[in-house]
Amino acid sequence: MRSFISIVVAAFSLTPYALAAPNGSRAGQCPPGRPARALYFQTNMRSGNSIVAVPIMSNGAVDTNKYSTHATGGNGSAGMEAMNVTAGPDPLFSQDSVIVKDNMLFAVNAGSNTLTMFNINPRHPTCLTMVGEPASTMGDFPVAVAYSRKLKMACVLNSGASDGVACYSVSARTGLRPLDKSARKLNIGQSTPPVGPTGTVSDIFFTPDSKSLIVIVKGNPPTGVAGFVAVYPVQNGKISTTPVKSNPTGSVALFGSSMISNTEIIATDAGFGTMKLKLNPKTHVVDAEVKTTIAGQAATCWTAYSPKTESVYVTDIKMNRIEEINACTGKVVSALDFTNGNVGNIDDIVGGDFLYTLSPSNGKVDIAVVSLACGQGKMKELGTFSIRNGPDQFSQGLAVL
Ligand SMILES: *[C@@H]1O[C@H](CO)[C@@H](O)[C@H](O)[C@H]1NC(C)=O
Ligand SMILES: *[C@@H]1O[C@H](CO)[C@@H](O)[C@H](O)[C@H]1NC(C)=O
Ligand SMILES: *[C@@H]1O[C@H](CO)[C@@H](O)[C@H](O)[C@H]1NC(C)=O
Repeated sequence: MRSFISIVVAAFSLTPYALAAPNGSRAGQCPPGRPARALYFQTNMRSGNSIVAVPIMSNGAVDTNKYSTHATGGNGSAGMEAMNVTAGPDPLFSQDSVIVKDNMLFAVNAGSNTLTMFNINPRHPTCLTMVGEPASTMGDFPVAVAYSRKLKMACVLNSGASDGVACYSVSARTGLRPLDKSARKLNIGQSTPPVGPTGTVSDIFFTPDSKSLIVIVKGNPPTGVAGFVAVYPVQNGKISTTPVKSNPTGSVALFGSSMISNTEIIATDAGFGTMKLKLNPKTHVVDAEVKTTIAGQAATCWTAYSPKTESVYVTDIKMNRIEEINACTGKVVSALDFTNGNVGNIDDIVGGDFLYTLSPSNGKVDIAVVSLACGQGKMKELGTFSIRNGPDQFSQGLAVL
């Protein structure tokens, strides 16, 4: 074993290092890592929403000198926090407001109640072409979108006074075709814009086998209203009209979540940290399995899963740190404190052997990059890259090609 390790270390030490890590010698003990190609988020501006596409370089860093912007044909919006304060960062109180699947990008327009679809040119991944027209979300204030490759279907989640889930068939040529006449109501009793973050919807995603569509809704501790997980069984290629609702024991305000298998979910909970949830594929009931309290957390809300490291990386809007959760045990394995001086981070995403987080503020959007190439328990801060004079604190969503 020892000789194997020393051979591996010797092999890597012969490799010239492109990674400009804070400690070159320590990062040099890891492979350089496979990069993704481009990173995407939405400006969510109320005067006109756009997708920002940022190229990723061979060392995993983003090239913020070469980003492009693409109008979605809709407007952004922002929820309200207590006492008439406009929310932002995290104006949508959600994860998955922008997703990328199979060279297609989907983004919600919370201020126009529409969903926009783009094709991504795989040879020039910052080159996007809108397909068809933005489609009505059949509700108010859409905040998240899911896509199933197997069903060739997208479903959108509305968070406003008219809430609920609407689905579309997806064609890379013709775009979105509505499959529903009206949204499946959740009746959580919100306004438009919603008042949150508690008591609003959080996330929507399919199970990897596309046998269920899952919606996460935050509880509202001040009013004593419990949050829930709504599971819509997929039968004969159709999303059922009514969900099976569960209230996992001990959850407070379930937020962004990642599926790590067809039955296991790692969810954040803004109230304490993370929760590993188990979906019963027969009854569609979701139960709490492991509750993990993150020390010092303020609002743990976003997840990104790496199947390679078998970890889920979670961010906190008020703590400038990544916590690494073992996807199997649901427990914390490591943490990395950023040195960039930001308050915290919202959406995060894994691309290849790198993790990206979004930290929007007034006048600037920061993207922090972490190398995951050393494996589980060994995050390395690569650097933070800024976009100025454009997208601001209302930016949201993060996706990768
Ligand atoms: C870099 O290495 C020095 C000396 O070993 C250590 O004190 C410091 O904490 C390291 N910095 C980072 C960012 O790992
Ligand atoms: C976007 O908002 C502007 C007002 O700021 C309005 O004139 C325009 O119609 C809106 N566009 C859409 C697509 O909702
Ligand atoms: C909050 O906004 C609403 C709607 O704009 C307004 O009616 C209300 O007076 C405001 N409340 C405070 C405390 O400013």
